Amino acid sequence: MAKKKDVLLDHEYDGIRELDNELPPWWVYLFWITIVFAVVYMFHYHVFKTGDLQIAEYNKEIDPNWEPPEMDENGNLISIYRSPFSSPKGDITPFIQKQFASFVGPDLTSDALIMEAMRRSDEKTLNKLKADFPELFKQLSAGGAAIIPKKAAVKETIEPMEALTDAASISKGKELFTKNCVSCHGAQGQGGIGPNLTDDYWIHGAGMAHVAHTITVGVPAKGMITWRGVLSPDQIKQAASYILTLHGTNPPNPKAPQGEKFEYPLQ
Ligand code: HEC
Repeated sequence: MAKKKDVLLDHEYDGIRELDNELPPWWVYLFWITIVFAVVYMFHYHVFKTGDLQIAEYNKEIDPNWEPPEMDENGNLISIYRSPFSSPKGDITPFIQKQFASFVGPDLTSDALIMEAMRRSDEKTLNKLKADFPELFKQLSAGGAAIIPKKAAVKETIEPMEALTDAASISKGKELFTKNCVSCHGAQGQGGIGPNLTDDYWIHGAGMAHVAHTITVGVPAKGMITWRGVLSPDQIKQAASYILTLHGTNPPNPKAPQGEKFEYPLQ
């Protein structure tokens, strides 16, 4: 630290005098770092243009195929990038296109998308879409009257699950099956009203997780009730485990295969 009189400046105003102290080193370093940072920043973003500015970053995020607008040598724009959301008939982002192309086809316009959404929506959403786009609603078959709103979808996920293999569980499963299921699936699971449960073919997926899931949620539209609520989760597990033991038993009078063939042993 310098002596007070060395750093005392020679001016005085109304008795106030000034000391010319050194700045603390941390402050000085920080100052130099900000200057270096600013230079690096300027060259990276504005001179070499190796970094994306905010607008480019944003555009790339909503459209992975985005290209920066072209400029001529005077810096005037030759082509202007249009946001996929800017015009009603404009391009839809490739991401959405991929998701919807399978059912709307390649000529994907936002009109087609909205109509598809109408076909798939539940009542509340349908009413809203109908109010917002009455023209499009009219374009749908029979003026839109043919649309039956879907009930709000119930989200079901299939959790991986191990089959029970102990004799007690299997025999409990057999009991449950005999009591609840044979009327439709046959005494030996050979099938009847319901499908054959002993072959390699499954409509709703083979293996413990799928079979337990099918039993739990049922296929009410096809006559297989939702067993959740009738059977406990443990009982469903027992019934499903028993059904798995029926595979390959070749009972007499089997029902013809239904669904997709699965390769056994299952992976
Ligand atoms: C009223 C008739 C009926 C009863 C009772 C019934 N099911 Fe079903 N079950 C069906 C029908 C019909 C299907 C086929 C659904 C379809 O076509 O999508 C089916 C499908 C299944 C499937 C899926 C088969 C596949 O190929 O993916 C399983 C597993 C099954 N039932 C298990 C059971 C169990 C366990 C019980 C008793 C707790 C039971 N079912 C009771 C009619 C019934």
